[in-house]
Amino acid sequence: MDFAETPKLELHLHIEGAMPPDFARRLADEKDIDLGGLFDDRGAYAYRDFFHFLQVYDKACSVLQTPRDYARLTGEILRRSAGDGVIYTEMFLSPDFCGGGDLGAWQEYLAAIEEAARTAEARHGIVMRAVVTAVRHLGPEQAKSAARCAAETAGAFLTGFGMAGDETRGRAGDFAWAFDCAREAGLGLTSHAGEWAGPESVRETLDALRPARIGHGVRAAEDPALVARLAEAGTVLEVCPGSNIALGLYPDWAAHPVARLRAAGVKVTLSTDDPPFFHTRLPFEYARMAEAFGWEPADFTEMNRAAAAAAFCDAATRAALLKRLEDAT
Ligand code: ADE
Ligand code: ZN
Repeated sequence: MDFAETPKLELHLHIEGAMPPDFARRLADEKDIDLGGLFDDRGAYAYRDFFHFLQVYDKACSVLQTPRDYARLTGEILRRSAGDGVIYTEMFLSPDFCGGGDLGAWQEYLAAIEEAARTAEARHGIVMRAVVTAVRHLGPEQAKSAARCAAETAGAFLTGFGMAGDETRGRAGDFAWAFDCAREAGLGLTSHAGEWAGPESVRETLDALRPARIGHGVRAAEDPALVARLAEAGTVLEVCPGSNIALGLYPDWAAHPVARLRAAGVKVTLSTDDPPFFHTRLPFEYARMAEAFGWEPADFTEMNRAAAAAAFCDAATRAALLKRLEDAT
């Protein structure tokens, strides 16, 4: 089945990670930046493992230097996502990449991105919200700067705060100040955990940061008590199966725990994370779920309704998204 027409919500998409390699090469040419070693012989991003992926990601970001670069990238990503049937997307933005954590610079980047999002919504009907994302391996002080940037610019467009990066660095509790700052500003909270590190990372994150959602969280499946806790608390997992497989967490789609988590009552949603890095797109993920687990259109509708309920957006936006899902069934 071709899922391009199925209306979809995507809650976990890194803006830089969604940069098509051609786009990166074009910007590199324009700015005379050497991206040597970043691509394989077919022109795709090349990396050996999770830690190398994070390095390649950082290097790819070197071509993104101005608010205009980010505006162009936003427009390109939203055009592609809309073509894949995505009606709502939450994009992860980092003040660390957008202005180095400086509030004034961040405000300029955010304004340019918001303008591009408004244009894309008018043209393609796709709604975007932004989630400021601290980068864990840059440490708690940088995360505080990111949280301050998020708190100062929280509003109708900037609606969430989270953390990505290397979850094996530091302890979740080191980032409690940043999450508390974002919580006080009224932002929705999410954090990567249980992707590269095990169930204990998810447990620590729940205890120390109290997010409503977890990015990935799939390794919680190794601990039945934790699975029960997630189900009981209604914590939503932003599951990105293709990303996990590309990074070597699971050997193939059938081995992925998303269906087991869902059967245990955990709220799961589907996203692509960094699609060109992982050779994926959202309709492709849906097709693999249908193939591996027999998911039917009604399963995807139910999952997208859960995503709408968990989206970091206001009530009117949520109601409009639910209506679009309803109209398509
Ligand atoms: N940053 C971008 N993609 C990421 C991922 N899958 N895990 C952690 N940090 C990331
Ligand atoms: Zn991610």
